[in-house]
Amino acid sequence: MNQDNRVIIFDTTLRDGEQSPGASMNKAEKLRIATQLEQLGVDVIEAGFPASSQGDFDAVRSIAENLKKSQTAALCRASKSDIDRGWEAIRNAAAPRIHTFIATSDLHMEYKLKMDRNQVLEKAVEAVRHAASYTDNVEFSAEDGSRSDPDFLCRVFEAVIDAGATTVNLPDTVGYAVPAEFSELVTYVTRNTPNMAKAVLSVHCHNDLGLATANTLAAVESGARQVEVTINGIGERAGNTSLEEVVMSLNTRPNFFPHTCGIDTTKIYPTSRLVSMVTGIMVQPNRPVIGANAFAHEAGIHQDGVLKNPMTYEIMKPETVGVKKNNLVLGKHSGKHAFKNHIGEMGYSLSEDEIDSLFEKFKQLSDRKKDIQNEDIEALINESVLRSNEIFRLEYIHVACGNTVFPTASLQLSINDRQVKGAKDGNGPIDAVYNVIADITGTKSELLRFSISALTEGTDAQGEVTVRLMEEGLVALGKGADPDIITASALAYINGLNRLEYLKENPSIKPDSL
Ligand code: KIV
Ligand code: ZN
Repeated sequence: MNQDNRVIIFDTTLRDGEQSPGASMNKAEKLRIATQLEQLGVDVIEAGFPASSQGDFDAVRSIAENLKKSQTAALCRASKSDIDRGWEAIRNAAAPRIHTFIATSDLHMEYKLKMDRNQVLEKAVEAVRHAASYTDNVEFSAEDGSRSDPDFLCRVFEAVIDAGATTVNLPDTVGYAVPAEFSELVTYVTRNTPNMAKAVLSVHCHNDLGLATANTLAAVESGARQVEVTINGIGERAGNTSLEEVVMSLNTRPNFFPHTCGIDTTKIYPTSRLVSMVTGIMVQPNRPVIGANAFAHEAGIHQDGVLKNPMTYEIMKPETVGVKKNNLVLGKHSGKHAFKNHIGEMGYSLSEDEIDSLFEKFKQLSDRKKDIQNEDIEALINESVLRSNEIFRLEYIHVACGNTVFPTASLQLSINDRQVKGAKDGNGPIDAVYNVIADITGTKSELLRFSISALTEGTDAQGEVTVRLMEEGLVALGKGADPDIITASALAYINGLNRLEYLKENPSIKPDSL
């Protein structure tokens, strides 16, 4: 393999991805995603921003202590205290990386930082020097790089490389760049930063104009050798460059891109599903590579062509990204061994205890639903593995409704392992359930959005409910699935409340607030 063409995949799902509104994740969820990213073959996992909150610090530390192959990056503003805190969180990692940043555009320097160019340059150098006193794996990012003066950018890059930065990152922070222009900037910076050969040039694009992937690929073509991406393209505002689009572009067009990377493409789809389940952010059906329609052929002429030769209308094979054609999997009579194998084939690695508890839930579900499909199993993993440490848990629910009764709900929750029950009415069964949950949890959230869909086909399908809640200015998404849609609605609401509790306990600051 030509090492010059090896592209480093830097995933920031757990940091920039978590900045998507409502996408906060707790420590266990972040660790689960980090483990999956490592199996996917990500080179650098940006685990979080440790100075932002105690919760993020703890999550970054636990990820750092668990990753074996991937590097663990901690984001830090260009300040000594942020870098000390970041290093504290990742010092035990197999391969720690400090990622520090400061804005370099005149706009950000004047209005946000209230600093001039020399002050910013000095701060960047000081920060990198301090980071380099801890580790020789230091990344520096020039925030709003694409709108910075190119010559100043080169001055900053030259100075931070001299101070010890081994990666310099050029972000299109606000998603403003267009491919030809971004490619030109990458070429300019490469040619005009005298010591650039001593560092890896990275790019980090946002998707405000839908150009994040195009800009990232244009930068790779012009010499960038690290790409910063997220699973499903989640991230601040319109999101970040999506890992799956970049990796599959390199993979599908090798004649155009003579580049390689360490991603095991067959793990792309399971990773995408996991991130969607954990964050509650649904993947649009027409989304490239991982959307439900990405490999569906509706038109008869296309179906006919694909049957004769898949290459007629499929530029990639679904199996290459881990999409299984035959989704019909298990049923009532499936044994534990087959179940465990299937979980492995789906790309998940769970402990024996987790498999045991999941298998029990699977048996209960197979009494209520004939054919259990991958989506059902993913929902079970979400409910019984990822949420095992939550404050509020549903114990039982009973609802009376119909066109001749006044809707009433009685239910019992466990709240920090204490059983609490209650009953309430409402103008419909879901309203009644939400009233009683709000009452016994003592929460005052506002329901901003409620949506329900069927997880699979058939009348016995599980209903999947997503809610968006707001309390004390904090916003969280919640998700729940069950064959009974009222129970699914209760689970989604409870999940949203748990996420709000996490946010209340872990007030965080945004990385770009200096
Ligand atoms: O978008 C951005 O500029 C960032 C930096 C912190 C790398 O996320
Ligand atoms: Zn960003």
